[in-house]
Amino acid sequence: MLHGPNLNLLGTREPGVYGSVTLPEINALLRQRADQAGALVELVIHQSNHEGVLVDLIQEHGPRSVAIVINPGALTHYSIALRDALAAVARPVIEVHLSNVHAREEFRHHSVVAPIAVGQIAGFGKDGYAMALDYAIRQYVVSEEDNQ
Ligand code: DQA
Repeated sequence: MLHGPNLNLLGTREPGVYGSVTLPEINALLRQRADQAGALVELVIHQSNHEGVLVDLIQEHGPRSVAIVINPGALTHYSIALRDALAAVARPVIEVHLSNVHAREEFRHHSVVAPIAVGQIAGFGKDGYAMALDYAIRQYVVSEEDNQ
């Protein structure tokens, strides 16, 4: 799970747009869901305000990931470096946005990540992260039953 720029400010950042939920609360929700899914799920979570750090994290953790859930923040709309890093690692990417970016300013309507993603979830607040993680677990993590 990667959180991009300014998402560390959730809770106080434009609460009218992003709600009052904080990043630690979102991460706790995700950890809880990963735990419920069982021992086969290892969830690695990072947040950075820096494009290059996110690229480094994708290069470092991507190769041993089954899927990447990412809210790239503003980088969504222009970071070819981030998109290229995600494309290079060739893992399923699920793009998440708290707000419905398509109902906001025009510059938020375009995502450079979306064309290399499995899909995009936008507008469901913190629930969007849970949806993305649940999907990733169902689709890309072998269930314990399948393993027997
Ligand atoms: C965001 C939407 C982006 O346009 C914005 O730059 C963000 C947050 C969202 O989660 O709704 O930082 O990714």
